[in-house]
Amino acid sequence: MFVLVVAAAGYIARGGADAKPLPGTPLRDLGAQRGIEVGTAVRSDVLKRNRAYRELVAAQFSSVTPENEMKWAAIEPSRGDFDFDPADEIVEQARDAGQKVRGHTLVWHAQLPGWVKDLGPQELRAAMHEHIRRVIGHYDEDVGIWDVVNEPITDRGGLRESVFERRLGPGFIADAFRTAHAADPDAKLYLNEIGAEGINAKSNRLYEIVRDLKAEGVPIDGVGFQVHANLKGLPPDFVENMRRFRGLGLDVAITEADVALKLPPSDADLQAQARIYAEIVRSCLAVECRSLTFWGFTDGRSWISETQAGRGAATLLDEHLRPKPAFFAVQRALGG
Ligand code: G3I
Repeated sequence: MFVLVVAAAGYIARGGADAKPLPGTPLRDLGAQRGIEVGTAVRSDVLKRNRAYRELVAAQFSSVTPENEMKWAAIEPSRGDFDFDPADEIVEQARDAGQKVRGHTLVWHAQLPGWVKDLGPQELRAAMHEHIRRVIGHYDEDVGIWDVVNEPITDRGGLRESVFERRLGPGFIADAFRTAHAADPDAKLYLNEIGAEGINAKSNRLYEIVRDLKAEGVPIDGVGFQVHANLKGLPPDFVENMRRFRGLGLDVAITEADVALKLPPSDADLQAQARIYAEIVRSCLAVECRSLTFWGFTDGRSWISETQAGRGAATLLDEHLRPKPAFFAVQRALGG
């Protein structure tokens, strides 16, 4: 008996179990009725070995974002030496499931391989151009949207002192967008930022930057608001903030939504979390956002519990892939 129980537990841990279908209309269908894509960050290793995870991704979402697999350190760990395999696996699954893929991310100060940090200005510019061209070129059939530049601004509204900013100056942003556009003129190109949901020093600077890019004719299509939230909730001026970016003729998307809780969460916390998730959906719909992406959909696979001690339970499903109040709140907010 004991052996049987242990064997069964191992089977489930390895992902041999079928996904228990979630009740109600899938989020991707509800999103389609409202004209938006509903997406999730995914991990290639989990997709590969966990059938329940894989089936839920296919059933519930119309778009996926590789959580780490397209980042510079993962995809070009040494100069000119590209490893597309893990990201290719995600792209292939997405093709089979009829999903869009958001490319994340081409130019970011984090998850950057050491060799990039050692380059002088000329070499860095050449390496950035080559990186963007090769990655976009590899995926031009399958990836229609890119986070070209990620998180270039500090909370105080300055340009972040990244290797790109220090060696290339603030013009690296326009340069990256122009290079991306030349590599795939049909791709939608986004600037993605964290903590810019409310009207604050960071989002004001973001606004000025994208306004100037548009005025200079730089090919930028949209702004991604990440929305890594907690029980403090969303800034009251989130919708107003996104509207001013829409006013510049840009698309907006929510790109990395989650709502972190203190562990273990109480029932009241889970209900409060559900209300915040519903508000994220409503905010997105209020500004006719293009897409709403969750940064993972199960508490068993979320960066919050992996990187922030004492916090977690940030997603729609628990670690056993069972729906939490947040899941039903998102369904209802999407009209389900
Ligand atoms: O790849 C190594 C692996 O070789 C090693 O064995 C393992 C041991 O810790 O680490 C692996 O790297 C981890 C990587 O994820 C891939 O799994 C890093 O430690 C870990 O720090 C990294 O975390 C990611 C984080 O970005 C890095 O900054 C998270 O999974 C990912 O969710 C998070 O995503 C970012 C978005 O890209 C941008 N916006 C903020 C968001 C949250 O930080």
